Amino acid sequence: MAEPNFQNRTLYHGDNLDFLRGMNSETVHLIATDPPFNKNRDFHATPDSLAAGAKFRDRWSWERDVHDEWTDSIKDDWPAVWEVIDAARAAYGDDMGAFLCWLGVRLMEMHRVLRADGSLYMHCDPTASHYLKAMLDAIFGGDNFRNEITWKRTSAKGLAYRNLPNNHDILLRYSKSGAWIWNPQFVPHDPNYVEKFYRFIEEDTGRR
Ligand SMILES: C[S@@+](CC[C@H](N)C(=O)[O-])C[C@H]1O[C@@H](n2cnc3c(N)ncnc32)[C@H](O)[C@@H]1O
Repeated sequence: MAEPNFQNRTLYHGDNLDFLRGMNSETVHLIATDPPFNKNRDFHATPDSLAAGAKFRDRWSWERDVHDEWTDSIKDDWPAVWEVIDAARAAYGDDMGAFLCWLGVRLMEMHRVLRADGSLYMHCDPTASHYLKAMLDAIFGGDNFRNEITWKRTSAKGLAYRNLPNNHDILLRYSKSGAWIWNPQFVPHDPNYVEKFYRFIEEDTGRR
């Protein structure tokens, strides 16, 4: 297996495609990525946050944002990914196709740099999650899909008067192969949970 050609515990700031393309294959244990979601909006960091002044455009245009170099490499190397992009353009529109091209070339690189025992967690939301599931199946193989994690961002309060609320995001989890690393998490139970569900106390020991 190749040696990593990047520093551990280091923040690299820039377009991640340039960095990914410079990284040796099969050198990364874990990828957690939170890319734009194709929300057709511009985002600005709140003025009191560490990121104050930062902004990014989450609007995608086939003419402006898609490079021939990307489409050529997707068509040549990942024809199933191209089929997904084509289908998304037809079903949803050119903006979704452009967004998927932009993200697809990056996800192809992320797949390349992951070790055989590595995993990817990708944050998205229902705007594109179903197209992204299809695209990740095309890149990682459907057998390597491990979980769809649903994150309820807020309560439904105020969102449910005229509709069911749209208040969750999605994380898609894939492993590179069937032999992924999994470290079980052990954290203490919430005291309220313990109080409610372990009601009986052993007299001699005081244990619940
Ligand atoms: C949905 S936000 C994620 C925000 C982040 N998780 C946080 O909590 O601050 C998407 C982020 O992707 C960044 N981004 C957009 N294009 C990028 C690129 N080509 N390379 C690296 N980051 C990019 C944006 O600047 C934005 O900060």
